[in-house]
Amino acid sequence: MRLLNSRKRLQVGDGTMDDIDKIRTSVLSRIRPGDAEKQKLHELAHSMIERIDDLGKIEGLDIRARLVGSSARGTWLAGERDLDIFIMFQPDVTREFLEEKGLFVARKIAEKAESCEERYAEHPYISAVFDGFEVDIVPAFGVHSAADIRSAVDRTPFHNNYVLPRIRGFEDEVLLMKQFMKGAGIYGSELKTHGFSGYLVELLVIHCGSFMDVLEAACGWKPGMTIDIEKHASMEHKDPLVVVDPTDPDRNVAASLSLDNLCIFIDRACEFLENPDASYFNVKVPDVLDDDGFRKMMKARGTSLIAIEFRAPDVVEDVLFPQLHKMEESVKEMLERYDFRVYNSAVRADANAVLIFELEASGLPDLKKHAGPQVWSRQHALAFKSKYSDSIAFSNIHIRDGKYMVEIPRKYSNAKKLAVMELSKCSLGKHVGLSIKEGYRILEGDEILKIRDEEFRRFLRRFFEK
Ligand code: CTP
Ligand code: MG
Repeated sequence: MRLLNSRKRLQVGDGTMDDIDKIRTSVLSRIRPGDAEKQKLHELAHSMIERIDDLGKIEGLDIRARLVGSSARGTWLAGERDLDIFIMFQPDVTREFLEEKGLFVARKIAEKAESCEERYAEHPYISAVFDGFEVDIVPAFGVHSAADIRSAVDRTPFHNNYVLPRIRGFEDEVLLMKQFMKGAGIYGSELKTHGFSGYLVELLVIHCGSFMDVLEAACGWKPGMTIDIEKHASMEHKDPLVVVDPTDPDRNVAASLSLDNLCIFIDRACEFLENPDASYFNVKVPDVLDDDGFRKMMKARGTSLIAIEFRAPDVVEDVLFPQLHKMEESVKEMLERYDFRVYNSAVRADANAVLIFELEASGLPDLKKHAGPQVWSRQHALAFKSKYSDSIAFSNIHIRDGKYMVEIPRKYSNAKKLAVMELSKCSLGKHVGLSIKEGYRILEGDEILKIRDEEFRRFLRRFFEK
């Protein structure tokens, strides 16, 4: 019924329902998994579950495998090929038991995989590739209620129980919503993206009723909004958007969504409603920025660019990216402290990590104006005078606006030099700190063109063009 209401309202705007229907049909034809993909996924899931359950019996373990996530709910985007399989243990086993036996079972299953990798979240799990599908095999405590969870992943089966009966018939709405967010670059709750998770999208559709209804609601949102479907919130959150988890009154499902990504969504929702177009669902890959393009871009902007490059530590992205952002903030703060104005900054990582900073100018005059205490605070005045009277200054100590002032040589008149000399003093996360100790290089202006990697060049274009 909600769908009909939104259709009526839409005819008032610029876009007609015909337009929307055409867009929906064409986008869905490309993002809805086909029958062959569905069948392949279900067969693979079924065989994995059977193998885990059989192994449990052979090993005398009281475990049960379960398919969760979007592949269990029919809300995965075509070609995603991602499967989440949980190994549910009895709720009262020890953490050590779950980790040891869980990994044992997961490793055994992964023996038949094309490739596999052990990863560490709150506890270890295995990510393996079978038949082109990325399968996460995750041990979890099969607690009886979401209030009793012992590890963060224990919530997931409850999400499944909540979403499954409510999303039937609305799968297309979820797919459209996910693809719309991908087009905006805000899909994924990982700490690299700080966007919307799949579960959050499903809850928005459940709450509002359809893709168009979510957009209409979002166009009227302001940061600080709370959505509490079960009306059971038990604590306050200070996040830009609060969506209380229907399975856990303490948790905000949108906790990792950043203010800017929320605002991008609000803006895009309004724009789409005014002028619906299929291009909103396209993921834009920026063109490679070649040497010539880079030089032209820098000349036109008149700013300076500095890059810090080092080997990316071998940790999962959810560990790496917070550390890279911490370093970005800390270097930015240092540059500003030495009077270099930072216009933009960004980070990226694959084998190497790169941080870039766009500065108003990388060179400053040798002279720095240095203000001292007010003339009438005598004790400070004496200290200031004794410190600066015999230093090699450009000026005598003089008085401006009631304060002592002196013009002294600047410690660093070049930003690259500052970074080279002081980087080790910046506060760095554990893994990034170790990597930096092994080595790094700092590049300025055209030197940045030494980084030939295509993905880096696309990142540079996105950095400039936003
Ligand atoms: N999950 C969660 N919080 C997160 C990430 C995941 O609670 N930040 C839970 C959700 O229940 C989710 C499941 O773990 O459904 C699987 O996670 P993931 O594969 O990241 O999301 P999906 O919902 O499967 O969506 P996608 O289509 O993007 O795979
Ligand atoms: Mg998934």
